[in-house]
Amino acid sequence: MPSTSDRGPRPVPAAAPARRVSVDPQGPVLVEGPVEIVRDDGTVARSDRFMVAVCTCRRSRTYPWCDTSHRRRERADPPPEDRDPR
Ligand code: FES
Repeated sequence: MPSTSDRGPRPVPAAAPARRVSVDPQGPVLVEGPVEIVRDDGTVARSDRFMVAVCTCRRSRTYPWCDTSHRRRERADPPPEDRDPR
């Protein structure tokens, strides 16, 4: 489980390896951990996991971490031309 602290972001060493980030358009942003996220109020949430799923839909109960709540999105009815005429 990710931890939370009130420490600010740390400076990144010049020779630090690049972080790899994957964006799922229907879900979270996957970031190679460890990760620290500065919230709007200035507090910092930290996760030491190998891969961290950061919520982009803001539906997560564990925000800023993805809890898969994005999957519960209601699907809109298909447009009339895509419906089965039967
Ligand atoms: S992206 Fe997964 S809960 Fe928000």
